[in-house]
Amino acid sequence: MASNPKTLTFEEVAKHNNKKDCWIIINGKVYDITPFLDEHPGGDEVLLTSTGKDATIDFEDVGHSDSAIEMMEKYFIGKVDTSTLPPKVSHSLPQPTQTHGAGNQSSGFVVKILQFLLPLLILGLAFALQYYGQKKHASTS
Ligand code: HEM
Repeated sequence: MASNPKTLTFEEVAKHNNKKDCWIIINGKVYDITPFLDEHPGGDEVLLTSTGKDATIDFEDVGHSDSAIEMMEKYFIGKVDTSTLPPKVSHSLPQPTQTHGAGNQSSGFVVKILQFLLPLLILGLAFALQYYGQKKHASTS
C-alpha cells in the first residue's frame, strides 16, 4: 500500500459524480466507490447523491456498521485538501423563524389595527347611545 496518500482538491473529486466514475469524501478521505455502486446495500442512488460534497454527515447519519467502515478502506484512493472543501451547509438555517417572523408581523399588524379601531368603535357607540337617549328624552317631555 502506498505510504503517502495522494492529496486531491475538492474540485477534482467533485468531477467524479456518475455511475461510471463515482468518488466520495468521508472524513477527509476520498473513496473511488465505482465498483461498489451495484453492491451497496443502501443502493447506488444515495451514493451518487453523496458526490460533489463532503458526505461525512450523510454516511454517519445512516449509522453504518463496523464492517461497512472496514469495507470502505478497499476503495480509499487519497485524501482531500480540506482547505478546498466548500463551507458546510447548516441544517439549521433560519427558514422556519422567517415564516414564524412573517406570521408574527401580520398578527402584529392586526393587533395595531384593532388598537386603533376599538377606541373609535367605543366612541361611536357612546355617541349613538347619547343621541338615542336625547331623542327619547325629547319625546317624553
Ligand atoms: C464507501 C462508502 C460506503 C460503504 C462501504 C457502505 C456500506 C454499507 C453497508 C455494508 C451497508 C449495510 C448496513 C451496514 O452494514 O451498515 C450500508 C447501508 C446503507 N448505506 Fe452505505 N456505505 C457507504 C457509503 C454510504 C453513503 C455515502 C451513504 C449516503 C447516505 C450511504 C447510505 C446507506 C444507506 C441509506 C444504507 C441502508 C441502511 C438501511 O437499510 O438500514 N452509504 N452501506
